Amino acid sequence: MDRFYVTTPIYYVNGAPHLGHAYTTVLADALARHHRQRGNDVRFVTGTDEHGLKVQRAAETLGLAPKALADQNAARFAGLFQRLGLSHDRFIRTTDADHLRTVEAMLGRLIAAGDVYLGAYEGWYAAADEAFYDEDEVVDGRAKESGATVEWVREESYFFRLSRYQAPLLAWYAQDPAPILPEARRNEVQRFVAGGLKDLSISRTTFSWGVPWPGDPRHVLYVWVDALTNYLTAAGGIPEAGAESWWPADLHLIGKDILRFHAVYWPAFLMSAGLALPRRILTHGWWTAPSGEKQSKSKGNVVDVDRLLDRYPLDAFRFFLFRDKPVAGDGSFSEERLLGRNNAELADNLGNLVNRCLRMLERYRQGRVPEGADSPESLDEGLRRSVADAGQAIAAAIDACDLMAASTRFIGLSADLNVYVNDSQPWVLARTGSEERLDQVLYHCLEGIRQLAVMAYAFMPASSLAILEALGASVEGPPPWSGLQWGLLPAGRQVSAPPLLFPKLDAEALGLSDDGTEA
Ligand code: MSP
Repeated sequence: MDRFYVTTPIYYVNGAPHLGHAYTTVLADALARHHRQRGNDVRFVTGTDEHGLKVQRAAETLGLAPKALADQNAARFAGLFQRLGLSHDRFIRTTDADHLRTVEAMLGRLIAAGDVYLGAYEGWYAAADEAFYDEDEVVDGRAKESGATVEWVREESYFFRLSRYQAPLLAWYAQDPAPILPEARRNEVQRFVAGGLKDLSISRTTFSWGVPWPGDPRHVLYVWVDALTNYLTAAGGIPEAGAESWWPADLHLIGKDILRFHAVYWPAFLMSAGLALPRRILTHGWWTAPSGEKQSKSKGNVVDVDRLLDRYPLDAFRFFLFRDKPVAGDGSFSEERLLGRNNAELADNLGNLVNRCLRMLERYRQGRVPEGADSPESLDEGLRRSVADAGQAIAAAIDACDLMAASTRFIGLSADLNVYVNDSQPWVLARTGSEERLDQVLYHCLEGIRQLAVMAYAFMPASSLAILEALGASVEGPPPWSGLQWGLLPAGRQVSAPPLLFPKLDAEALGLSDDGTEA
């Protein structure tokens, strides 16, 4: 049995969750579910990043203590993840007691390695952006990117000797299989690191909401050392030599905005601490607003996931996230396309397939599965091949984290099954009394649907289980991937009425005009 430890970024609690946060976490959930189906030992962790100036400022604005704001917003993230049906094994918060212990131990290791020294940080600081800028990012006293006024500041700070790790990082990026995916992102960090690394400031004296620096309480730990270490805490702490541990992570899923932290700083901290590096870091693209800019709280252009879940079935929303945007690329979010896919692909294609086949079984065979698994008809052979090929292609696509290819293949198989029903014409067979052929056709429909349901589990867990339940299968736990073998649906089994999976929704009733904008 393989193990699969998958993580999402931990989310800032300075505001409410939005589509971007839901996306990474649903992606991780689908991968975790698929690995459980394959019989792997899975650990899936998500959570919240609660320290730092952003959260302190947001709390001040609201007149709250930072921890009170963190509690409030962590609960909103946890609530949304519950509503999304996510199967994480832990929701980690950086204010958790075991995390504090891991952070202190981690820092102790960096210090023991001789990689930490006290120095002074100097640079152009823009208070409005809470960011430092390089010389070439500043023109006439303003940050080029944002236009915010900058001032020259000098602050005492502890530094991490990042510059020491240039060569080992470059060697790591060059490994095969590549630890940083996709290729374009690996090249991006490679170029950045090859250009030279400066030591990294890892403490702050200008705010207080953070992990206090051991032995020097004027400083708090820079939030990224604290945040990245969550992946170790959630693995059970810093691994002890010879003891069982979830570390290293098999997959860190991240958005492209935080690539440098994960692909440069984090492996350097781990090398310094003498710990193994994550096996893969996969960077995904953004959901953008129709204008093409990233959806973010600060831009106020975010899609409210709760509102979508009030309007669409959960599984339609999950499916849409995979089907509509390549993982690595950006894509603009369109509610009209969500509606369109719900209606055309889930209601008309998949839902209709399940409905018509189960109804025919009811009508022609009183809901009992007939014999007929291995008929020699070429139409049937073709269908058996399509089902087997789709299962293999979906597993390969999920292994490559290409959920768009996986979900596209899935809905393609559903379409193939519909074509099979149309071509084999069971209603004509029933009318003409071709009983043996009708048995075979009905068997192929149902067995095809059963396997389709097994394949659906990663994207649409509730629908997958509802279909399997209707087919009389046991639905305890994830349906095993080994169930993708032709003929496992036993003849003679009593099947129930089709579940209502995806109601067809009406654009006008949802207040959407034809071009997808809200009417
Ligand atoms: N707290 C840090 C991460 C620390 S990880 C050790 C952070 N938090 S965040 O709340 O700002 O966003 C985290 C992640 O949310 C992004 O990296 C990305 O995975 C996801 N997204 C946020 N907005 C997004 C989109 N508009 N589209 C897709 N995902 C995006 O950064």
